[in-house]
Amino acid sequence: MSSKLIAPSVLAADFANLQRDIELINDSEADWFHIDIMDGVFVPNISFGMPVLKAMGKHTKKPLDVHLMIVDPDRYIQTFADLGAATLTVHYEACTHLHRTLQAIKAAGMKAGVALNPHTSVDLLKDTIQDVDLVCLMSVNPGFGGQSFIENTYAKVKALKALINDKKSSCLIEIDGGVNATNAKALVDAGADVLVAGSFVFGSNNPTETIKDLKTRIA
Ligand code: DX5
Ligand code: ZN
Repeated sequence: MSSKLIAPSVLAADFANLQRDIELINDSEADWFHIDIMDGVFVPNISFGMPVLKAMGKHTKKPLDVHLMIVDPDRYIQTFADLGAATLTVHYEACTHLHRTLQAIKAAGMKAGVALNPHTSVDLLKDTIQDVDLVCLMSVNPGFGGQSFIENTYAKVKALKALINDKKSSCLIEIDGGVNATNAKALVDAGADVLVAGSFVFGSNNPTETIKDLKTRIA
């Protein structure tokens, strides 16, 4: 089994010092950059868009894990491929033709991810799990950093892990929202592979050490 991954969320970085915070992640033990794209329609917030991601991509030295919280994500699949996304995650709740969307993401050369809102059951992935590279379980309602972790997530991780094993899928389980030093190990023990952490990392006194500490806890 591969080692467990930490993906700091750039949403919690200092946008006025974005290059500094990108270099911090480059030089840390973090594995991926988690990039939250919000459109103000699917979620009640707007984060940043393509020009900012393009500028970031000149400095990032680790894979870009792009989480689209937008309606009609099919319109932008090629755009995010061109911007260098390694994984492109769409929301289950935003896709009428999820299977088609996943195929289009992979055809564009990226790993295909699906995010589930807290209210969306993992059972709904029964017929697509073999086509998914990553499932992002939202452990807060999407739209904002800094919210409290929803405890029901543990049950969802276990159910999803069982589904993945049952279907012999190689898909990774990512947890997004409210991840911190208190819940990180328990999430990995339940079956998580990738932990996104925003405010816990960038709100700490020493983000580099915080990332290192999280990595140690889940090793
Ligand atoms: C929420 C985003 C998360 C967010 C996590 O909609 O998808 O990636 O940045 O932030 P924290 O770790 O602060 O909950
Ligand atoms: Zn996210």
